[in-house]
This record gives sequence, C-alpha cells and structure tokens, in this order.
Amino acid sequence: MTSAQKIYFYPVWLRIWHGFNALGILVLIITGISMQSSVEASQILSFNWIINLHNIAGIVVTLSYFIFFVGNLVTPNGKFYIVKPKGFLKRPIQQATYYAWGMFHGAKPPYPISEKRKFNPLQKYAYIAVMYIAVPVVIVSGFALLFPEIIIDQIYTFSGVFVTAIFHSAMGFFISVFLIVHLYIASIGKSPIENFKSIINGWHHVH
Ligand code: HEM
Repeated sequence: MTSAQKIYFYPVWLRIWHGFNALGILVLIITGISMQSSVEASQILSFNWIINLHNIAGIVVTLSYFIFFVGNLVTPNGKFYIVKPKGFLKRPIQQATYYAWGMFHGAKPPYPISEKRKFNPLQKYAYIAVMYIAVPVVIVSGFALLFPEIIIDQIYTFSGVFVTAIFHSAMGFFISVFLIVHLYIASIGKSPIENFKSIINGWHHVH
C-alpha cells in the first residue's frame, strides 16, 4: 500500500483569487437576496447599506476575476480548463452516473484526480460555465446596472434596464446553485474537510 501522495494544486495566486471570490460572492448572494422586495421586511441593514455592500462586493469579485483570468492565461493552471472533443458528452455522463449511483455502491471514480487531471469531466464543465460564462455575465450586467445610462433604452417592448436586471439575477441564481453543488461535491472524499484544507494550504492529497 502506497502512502498518500501530495500534489501542489493551488498556487498562492489561485488561493488569493478563490478567497476573495468566495467571500465576495457570498456577500453578493446575501445582499442580492435581501434587495428583493419580497424579503424587505426581514432586513437587518438599511436598504442603502445593502446596496453599498453589494456594489463593494461586486468590485472585489471583478478585481479578483482578473487574477483568475490572467493567472489561467500565463500559468499551467489554464490547461485544466481546456476541453477536448473526444468523449465530450460520454465523459461527464460517466462522472454523473458515478455521483448518482456508483459512489453509493462502492464503485471507483471513473476519472481519478492525478497530476495531469485536476478536475473530473463534470467538474471541469461546471468550472468553465461558472468562471467563463456566469461570472463574466454577472460582472458586465452588474456594471451596466451601476451605470444605467450606458444601457440601451428599449429591447423589443421591454426596457433595457429591466432585461439587464433579469439577466443579472438569473446568472446570480445560477451561481448560487453552483455554490451549493460546489460545496457538496468538495465535501466528498476521504474526509469531508480535506478539500477545504487544500484550497487554503495549496496541497491536494491523492489516496
Ligand atoms: C464558501 C465558498 C466556497 C468554498 C468553501 C469553496 C471551496 C472550494 C474547494 C474546497 C475547492 C478545491 C476542490 C475542488 O476543486 O473542488 C475549490 C475550487 C474551486 N472553486 Fe470554490 N469554494 C467556494 C466558492 C466558490 C465560488 C463562489 C466559485 C465561483 C463562482 C468557486 C469556484 C471554484 C473554482 C473554479 C475552483 C477550481 C480552481 C482551480 O483549481 O483552478 N468557488 N473551491
């Protein structure tokens, strides 16, 4: 039996981005939900403060996004986000089957993590969707809502601000769902806290 192997998966810049991003997005989700008129009655902070916090967290997430984007361009971490056409659907389906059934029946993971494979196929797609589609859309639509004069007046019969706000909230909702699944998946492993330690100290243990 070989002892656990350690891989340095999360360099400092990635951990800095992830920390600011996670904190920022948590604040965005909480303040974003409190801004909805339906939960107005339960506000602890004043509406103005909630908006201020939302704007500050939005700027933090935007700035840290540049760390992620540039980091993935100039360091080897970017290669983990490249999708190969071979098995484009088959591979994530195998992984989903493992999560839904195999995992509970003692099956081995179909795509075990190694130095060459940091993410399983489903994880890779989820990270690409959230980091290269959802977060950029939320950032761009968020800044548009911060400066509404740059938004076009009318989209068909709807106001441009209304359509932008719908896009912004829908993507925010998608990121919220991603986060719940992300936390659950990250807790699967030898011990539920192992992956959370890795994203703080940089080292991933392969068993
Ligand atoms: C409380 C909040 C969060 C916690 C505790 C958390 C936890 C983790 C953990 C444990 C990992 C390493 C294991 C893995 O890859 O699954 C990770 C990686 C990652 N997380 Fe999170 N996360 C949080 C929020 C977020 C948010 C809000 C996003 C995106 C919007 C995000 C995106 C990612 C990405 C893309 C990676 C992989 C980074 C890489 O290795 O290139 N996380 N997170």
